[in-house]
Amino acid sequence: LGVSGVRAQEPAMNYDESRVPAYTLPDPLTMSDGRRVADTEGWMSERRPELLALFESQIYGKAPGRPEGVHFEVLSEDRYALSNMATRKEIAVYFTDDEEHFMTLLLYVPNKRTDAVPVFLGLNFKGNHTICDDPLVTPSTLRTEPGKGPSEGFPRAAAASRWPVEMLIANGYGLATVYRGDIDPDYDDGFQNGVHPLFYRDGQTRPAPDEWGTIAAWAWGLSRAMDYLETDEDVDAGRVAVIGHSRLGKAALWAGAVDTRFALVVSNDSGCGGAALARRRYAETVARINRLFPHWFCDNYKRYAGDEDALPVDQHELIALIAPRPVYIASAAEDKWADVKGEFLAGVHATPVYELFGSEGLYGTEPPPADEPCMSGRIGYHVRSGGHDITLYDWRQFVKFADNYLK
Ligand code: GCU
Repeated sequence: LGVSGVRAQEPAMNYDESRVPAYTLPDPLTMSDGRRVADTEGWMSERRPELLALFESQIYGKAPGRPEGVHFEVLSEDRYALSNMATRKEIAVYFTDDEEHFMTLLLYVPNKRTDAVPVFLGLNFKGNHTICDDPLVTPSTLRTEPGKGPSEGFPRAAAASRWPVEMLIANGYGLATVYRGDIDPDYDDGFQNGVHPLFYRDGQTRPAPDEWGTIAAWAWGLSRAMDYLETDEDVDAGRVAVIGHSRLGKAALWAGAVDTRFALVVSNDSGCGGAALARRRYAETVARINRLFPHWFCDNYKRYAGDEDALPVDQHELIALIAPRPVYIASAAEDKWADVKGEFLAGVHATPVYELFGSEGLYGTEPPPADEPCMSGRIGYHVRSGGHDITLYDWRQFVKFADNYLK
């Protein structure tokens, strides 16, 4: 489909709950051939791989896995960061055996520690130097579409409200982050920049219809960050939570689904292509997201523009792929674009898979009132009052939830 073909199928945008069409969700516990999943063994060895392959080939696209040449270099280490509360390291994660292509991982670990620590890992939007007011963080090189965005990058601490580093350190958590643009710049250039060309076969010039888009590339980058964290003795790699906001929340969910090394997954306001059910067609739709962000998903996903019922999966099954590991879904009351109810219901409909493992999930037909988190099961959820953002309130809930599993 050309872009105009996609646009022609695009239905009018719906913000009216009464106009959400009737839909039937695929059952996570029924195999494509109709057999029921009887137990956790059947889930792990048959249904989970089947669902994963469908998400891979139809939505996010296949990524290359861990390249043989991946290697790391600790570029700096400073034990006196954040008023001596933390140790800061910057690590080059080289994607192949050359040292030309890499991402820079910024890591803080609390100095007050007796053992290896649990860590929150997430990508950032604007550069490593924007996450807090630490003058010694190396500024990331901005990678935006030529002519768009500030030409000289963002000021230090520009995104500090989204990254409560001190609060995490005080609670015994480390924080690891990477600038998304180090992995793949967030604009459509036909996949010439970013990591994709490093893995083209001879003669290949762009990913095949079932191969990775930008979100899968970001998720792949999160796994490469995990490859490093496994080698760092200050970090307990068995206790890494992967987190993301909005488009980076979509990437965090996909990373958590693919890579079972992540012990806990947090989606904040991830919306369409993230936690929100596609079949609700509420606010952002498959057609719209593929038209405005044609590089995010694999080309096969464009087939479902205006035809969500034909999807072999829906986003509750993305949540289910994380089971039995804990997952937290956060929405914001005024963030209608991300479909609050659709994000909540994805958690509810993933619950049977958690129950198969003997755990509780998320329950109800309507999201809870604003600022009343649900944390009794392994699927945590809240609606924060306010708009599309990730705030200290959100992080406080994530820490509280993580304390139940990672402490
Ligand atoms: C756009 C996009 C969303 C995305 C958001 C963000 O609004 O339509 O799907 O989540 O950007 O990343 O902030």
